[in-house]
Amino acid sequence: MRHAADWTRKSTVSYYLEPMRQEDVPDVSRVERECFTNPWPQSAYRRELRNPANNHYLVLRHHIDHPTSRGGRSEGRGPLALLPFVRKPESTTATTDPIIGFAGMWVLFDEAHITTIGVLPQYRGKGLGELLLVEMFEEAIRRGAEWLTLEVRVSNEAAQALYRKYGFTRQGLRRRYYSDNGEDAYIMWSPSLRTPEFNERFDRLRTALRERLRDDLAPAGKPPSNEVAS
Ligand SMILES: CC(C)(COP(=O)(O)OP(=O)(O)OC[C@H]1O[C@@H](n2cnc3c(N)ncnc32)[C@H](O)[C@@H]1OP(=O)(O)O)[C@@H](O)C(=O)NCCC(=O)NCCS
Repeated sequence: MRHAADWTRKSTVSYYLEPMRQEDVPDVSRVERECFTNPWPQSAYRRELRNPANNHYLVLRHHIDHPTSRGGRSEGRGPLALLPFVRKPESTTATTDPIIGFAGMWVLFDEAHITTIGVLPQYRGKGLGELLLVEMFEEAIRRGAEWLTLEVRVSNEAAQALYRKYGFTRQGLRRRYYSDNGEDAYIMWSPSLRTPEFNERFDRLRTALRERLRDDLAPAGKPPSNEVAS
């Protein structure tokens, strides 16, 4: 039987979102090469980041809060921590925690176009791609967009399932859109972000995601109650 104090000393794992910065670009490129067969040149990211009025690019970082870290986790909301469990820990600086995912879009008038979204293979299936997509929705709404759109490979079932979950539908096809293998792209559009139906669905999905991530991010090593010594 372990003593309660044993597990309280274990590490806590968390993820948090931050705006992508110019100095993040080399790491983003490394992650991107594990996500896509046709990665952007770094210059493309640098160009996008020079136009924050129309663009919104994020990185997702992985933080392990070791018991020896100073400070602990922040109770405040970070600049982009929309979901309360995704907080930037006080004890870290952005440069120390590895980038494990990223997403970006441009917004023009009432249309937001998701240009990229990816999560490192070993971090997939945990709700983190969905978290990035939720943040894209949130920012699109904040900026007054009514629609989100994107292109996706016809073979990319996982991404299409993610988009369908949030109400995206196929509205067109771009033939031979991808230069690496000549694959076609589906053009997908969200429903209007301004309807009560969308807002109800979005709130429900976001709540479910919050609960899923909260459960997954419980302190590592937390024992079943019968292992806690009195
Ligand atoms: C697409 C991608 C970002 C999804 O990230 P992820 O963190 O694995 O996805 P999540 O765990 O958040 O899954 C959210 C939803 O996406 C869908 N999904 C994710 N992976 C899936 C898979 N392998 N098969 C079917 N559906 C999947 C499901 O609807 C899932 O919801 P559920 O858990 O309720 O079933 C990730 O697979 C990736 O980085 N792929 C490579 C890059 C890429 O293709 N980007 C999209 C370009 S258009």
